Amino acid sequence: MRRRVILLGPPGSGKGTIAARLQENFGFNHVSSGQLLRREVELDSAVGRRAKSFLDRGELVPDQTVLELMERWMDAMPPGTGFLSDGFPRTLSQARALDEWLASRGQAIDAVLFFNCPEAVMIERIAGRRVCPQCGRVYHQVTLQSRVAGRCDECGVALVQREDDTAPVVRKRFEIYSRQTEPLVAYYRAQGKLTEIDATRPLDAQMDDVMSALAK
Ligand code: AP5
Repeated sequence: MRRRVILLGPPGSGKGTIAARLQENFGFNHVSSGQLLRREVELDSAVGRRAKSFLDRGELVPDQTVLELMERWMDAMPPGTGFLSDGFPRTLSQARALDEWLASRGQAIDAVLFFNCPEAVMIERIAGRRVCPQCGRVYHQVTLQSRVAGRCDECGVALVQREDDTAPVVRKRFEIYSRQTEPLVAYYRAQGKLTEIDATRPLDAQMDDVMSALAK
């Protein structure tokens, strides 16, 4: 199975939800740059202080800060274990830096899954999304409910809405995605690594599509 995998797609397309399933069921080494950044903000670290205003506005955190964080995470990974990266890379310069970083270790990305979904569906998903502030697990008020309403199945703590899930910030995130991240679709397609996933399908059906893409 392919083990160095990138999940690419707009906000709310379902990257994090699929990543969590791949991690739980198949032991993938999942990393979400958004989650790492939110954690740094909570910790009030130097990286978190640099990133906070960008997260609040729905803009991309500068490449240098993100690359510092991601290289730290990848360096700490046991060799040969691979990764499932959700939200990174997000600009052409991040993608080129990742290719170079891997090449310097004699490695390359195995597969890129592009989650394609109409904007109206993603807006509805983001509006209903609730997350656990402790473990980061993601739920949806209608499509992926917790066992006890409003409480995390793992931690039991009250679920919250992400601070960047307000309507104006979500609009900004979509605009930034089209301008800065969408060009990666052509970049990875040209490398012959891209598989398009129909992200409107129910989760179990999508998992089947993902598994067959990773088995190729
Ligand atoms: P990040 O945390 O990466 O957010 P995002 O890319 O905007 O993606 P989301 O987490 O909103 O969506 P998702 O696709 O994971 O959807 P999910 O699975 O939750 O980034 C946040 C911010 O961090 C950025 O704005 C930026 O500031 C910064 N950042 C991060 N990485 C960066 C980088 N590399 N460079 C610079 N800055 C960076 O699903 C959404 C909802 O839908 C859930 O409630 C889920 O339950 C539900 N759902 C999912 N799939 C289905 C389905 N098939 N059917 C029904 N419901 C579904």
